[in-house]
Amino acid sequence: MMSEVMFDQLIEKGVEEFLAEEVIQWGLEHFKDGLVCANSLGAEDVVILHMLAQLEATIPIFFLDTGLHFQETHVLKKAWEERLGRSLITLSSTLSLEEQALQYGERLWEHDPNLCCTLRKVIPLRNYLADQKAWITGIRREQAPTRRHAKKIEWDANFQLVKLNPLADWSTTQLWNYIKEHDLPYHQLHDQGYPSIGCSFCTRPVKAGEDLRAGRWSGYEKTECGLHGHG
Ligand code: ADX
Repeated sequence: MMSEVMFDQLIEKGVEEFLAEEVIQWGLEHFKDGLVCANSLGAEDVVILHMLAQLEATIPIFFLDTGLHFQETHVLKKAWEERLGRSLITLSSTLSLEEQALQYGERLWEHDPNLCCTLRKVIPLRNYLADQKAWITGIRREQAPTRRHAKKIEWDANFQLVKLNPLADWSTTQLWNYIKEHDLPYHQLHDQGYPSIGCSFCTRPVKAGEDLRAGRWSGYEKTECGLHGHG
């Protein structure tokens, strides 16, 4: 298992200058069997899938399936699985949606979206990460004030392992240039005004001038689901 002290000994100066691929490469070198990738098939995530394939990295890639994703998300997941020639690992809650409704009430996402995220995403993630040394995510500083201080390689105090954010310093323009340049399959809803995509009931398109994550949990005092907690 990794600890913060071990991480401090491992981390070198200059990692913040690494290119995205170098961050992934660093992770591959340091955490051979304990490195995994969290992938939701968003724009950032398809870039990371492409980079992993280019680097011939066979690390586990997992998708947290809440049972509430858009159909388009599943279609894209399948397309990428065919392209990569392997399946993504599906992680889900042990609680079915029916059981959740019985225990906590119908449409929990409407009356307590935090609890819904915790049950359907955070708990399965926490269980899975407990056995890992490091995880790769697609977060970018530009996405939200809560992500402004994300480092490319950091200690994740919430889940107690190393967190690699290879695209931390990428701009939205850079992201889309990469997707177009490499002709990557991407989420259809990005072309319909959804820069950030989560579960169907909790994601709406954003209007001109709104920020990238304004369509997530719109109308609630909530901007994060608990996967990422940068202050
Ligand atoms: S979220 O925490 O609000 O859902 P966001 O949609 O911006 O986050 O995604 C940020 C990163 O979290 C993604 O690049 C991915 O690494 C991880 N992530 C988010 N949702 C999932 C999911 N359903 N399955 C796997 N990883 C996810």
